[in-house]
Amino acid sequence: MTYFQGKTVWLTGASSGIGLAMAQQLAEAGAHLILTSRRAEALEQVRLSLAHPERHRVLALDLSQPEAAAEQAHHELGDQVIDILINNAGVSQRSFILDTDMAVYRQLMEIDYFGVIALTKLVLPRMVERRTGHIVTVSSVAGKVGTKLRSGYNGAKFGVIGFMDSLRAEMKQHDLVVTSILPGFINTQVAHNSLTGDGSALGHEDPDNAGGISADECARQSLQAMSKQKAEVVVGSGVSKLAPFLQRFFPGLVRRMVANR
Ligand SMILES: NC(=O)c1ccc[n+]([C@@H]2O[C@H](COP(=O)([O-])OP(=O)(O)OC[C@H]3O[C@@H](n4cnc5c(N)ncnc54)[C@H](OP(=O)(O)O)[C@@H]3O)[C@@H](O)[C@H]2O)c1
Repeated sequence: MTYFQGKTVWLTGASSGIGLAMAQQLAEAGAHLILTSRRAEALEQVRLSLAHPERHRVLALDLSQPEAAAEQAHHELGDQVIDILINNAGVSQRSFILDTDMAVYRQLMEIDYFGVIALTKLVLPRMVERRTGHIVTVSSVAGKVGTKLRSGYNGAKFGVIGFMDSLRAEMKQHDLVVTSILPGFINTQVAHNSLTGDGSALGHEDPDNAGGISADECARQSLQAMSKQKAEVVVGSGVSKLAPFLQRFFPGLVRRMVANR
């Protein structure tokens, strides 16, 4: 994909799953990557495994503290030009509302919502000044359809789509591109890493995600949508891919489906 050739792409969540697959495909496509997640060592392993490792760098950040993460990034990146920011890092949830601590809701919002805003605000002024740039956020089908066990995740992923819609409207006059990616079920560690009611990780797979499309295929479809500068794209297969369409045109049916699942 020539769109990414020679571009500097800041990719979060690059140590695992969809982000790792995007890193591999972006490196093949000639991008220069800044690889972010919490685990510096895992990111360094990723960097060394990519095509042209010398073109890429690691920037370990904890997005559960978004302002501190943005300040650290500002310090480490200095004046570096960012052509594309891909806000992909995220954490999901598997707990009923009755069982979920407020701290878990805050944690989900910090990483999945405020983390996106903090990094976006960091790169935005320079993009506006240069009149070029592309901001991408990986939301979810869970940002269009609320389901059981994901109340906090749904809130954060709905919210981030609203933020991206507003960003797109405000940035049109500055010629910036804004893309929201909405994956359905993808076979990654997302369920394993999901937060339960007390904030501990679920620690095991989930048949829905295990039965989803591969991270490679998700990355391929996502990068294609970015290269076409799409505003929003749903990525996946089966019912999770159809869900946003059904929600829009048959909301009563979707309400019954999610309540009975
Ligand atoms: N898989 C799906 O079915 C699915 C569906 C819809 C949307 N999504 C979204 O896709 C994105 C990628 O998820 P995935 O499926 O690839 O899951 P994953 O394999 O669990 O990867 C999550 C990534 O986020 C990083 N991360 C988690 N907490 C972080 C923090 N506090 N600070 C910085 N980085 C953090 C992780 O790295 P470290 O552990 O190194 O920090 C990892 O690289 C997420 O936004 C997720 O919500 C996934």
